Amino acid sequence: MTSSSLTRHTITIARGDGIGPEVMDATLRVLEAADAPLTLEPITIGLAAYEQGHTTGITPEAWETIRRNEVFLKAPITTPQGGGYRSLNVTIRTTLGLYANVRPTSAYAPFVHSMHPGMDLVIVRENEEDLYAGIEFRPTAEVAKSVKLITRPGTERIVRYAFEYARAHGRRSVACMTKDNIMKHTDGMFHRVFDEVAAEYPDIRAEHHIVDIGAARLAAQPERFDVIVTLNLYGDILSDIAGQVAGSVGISGSANIGARYAMFEAVHGSAPDISGRGIANPSGLLNAAVQMLVHLGEAPVAERIANAWLTTLESGLHTADLHREGLSEREVTCDEFTDAIIERLGARPERLREARFETRRISVPEPVAPVVVRERAGIDVYVRWDETGRDATVLARQIELAVASGPLRLTLITNRGVEVHPATNSESLMTDHWRCRFLPAAVAGGPAARITLGEALAVPVMLAGGGIEVVGTEVLQRVDGAEGYSSGANG
Ligand code: NAI
Repeated sequence: MTSSSLTRHTITIARGDGIGPEVMDATLRVLEAADAPLTLEPITIGLAAYEQGHTTGITPEAWETIRRNEVFLKAPITTPQGGGYRSLNVTIRTTLGLYANVRPTSAYAPFVHSMHPGMDLVIVRENEEDLYAGIEFRPTAEVAKSVKLITRPGTERIVRYAFEYARAHGRRSVACMTKDNIMKHTDGMFHRVFDEVAAEYPDIRAEHHIVDIGAARLAAQPERFDVIVTLNLYGDILSDIAGQVAGSVGISGSANIGARYAMFEAVHGSAPDISGRGIANPSGLLNAAVQMLVHLGEAPVAERIANAWLTTLESGLHTADLHREGLSEREVTCDEFTDAIIERLGARPERLREARFETRRISVPEPVAPVVVRERAGIDVYVRWDETGRDATVLARQIELAVASGPLRLTLITNRGVEVHPATNSESLMTDHWRCRFLPAAVAGGPAARITLGEALAVPVMLAGGGIEVVGTEVLQRVDGAEGYSSGANG
């Protein structure tokens, strides 16, 4: 590619599967015509790599190229059906530490049909933690559990990224969405860190929504949102809601950003149903490439391309997925749409809002490890117990007998998070999986005491000695004097 810029950027590209090669070729044609200062290094990933026996869909050589170039433009790939294959996207995100998933979603009404013409928001989704950490167990026949892992440094980094993004892109507010009324330690930490970081950005309005009502507001009044920052799972769901409401799931690009590496891709998949027919809409990957150019500090080229694309939408030349009688002038192929964009390089949209980007690259400092005082407070032991009647008072008697010689006492049993001992008034369904809490004798009603790790770990050993099947443990901590564990019900 020829360049008018002093800096050339070598990037990795992958043409992908299905419509991947079609939309990549279209995107590269526009980049070249716009004189984007890029040198391209292609790699093979996806079906070809899976078929060579690489279960993650990527070869070791491809990793080398990705690491060397640091910036990666990826077309969609097809994940083979059936067991034994891992999602390449999840592998790339976690291997390269791509902690932020950034999805701008706008309506392009009246040229693309949308129920919310004023909508223009960006979802910044945490990309590595939460239930996606994949820490799951089947401790008993009746129970499956997944660990929702939220870290303070991970949270601080994503929240700071959202505020820095807002500043760099002239956005005025950041909304945080959590369910901290229920998950006080995980979502509670996310919300707390959000409030702390927000205080450092007085120029940006900060607000918090409980995610259920937040999602409803996003669906009903998306115009009221600017930047949204949230946990991995909520972000996954919210970005699909936003895409659907905008009427443009197929035209959004997405950026996956880490401290060193970044990957840009369309939101959609490899669309095998229309592959090879020349009718795919290349906008998703093209918009991802625009995000990439901004990331590389090439905002002027990004603006030229984005404005040519907006002008093409205004012209009514639409690919089949966007074509609507009354809104579109003519249905065009992928190639014709691409030619139309290239012809309009240098043009500015007349009715849609002109694209303007900040050239400032977002950098987020490494989070500082928090200084806290931790004290070991007790232990929760999970046991499988399935005796007739599943009567918690019977289990409690067996347990008390087993641990009688140790310093820790049974203070609580829950089943599915519901207290069943010492309170016994629950009508809730009993399963074969019980959480049993042990605290020092003095704590049960008395002042807090700290215990040794040996004292905590002696409990499951004593239970096993008493014939009780232990299936898991969690050592309880007090953090800065407060209980670092859920109390009683909902635990
Ligand atoms: P999909 O996004 O590929 O297709 C859903 C529907 O949207 C299809 O009807 C398709 O024709 C249409 N569509 C998608 N992109 C389009 C475009 N650019 N222009 C016009 N129409 C478009 O989702 P699906 O069918 O669930 O997945 C197909 C394959 O893609 C699967 O193997 C899946 O694992 C993979 N996938 C890959 C992703 C990635 O590499 N980032 C993301 C999502 C899915």
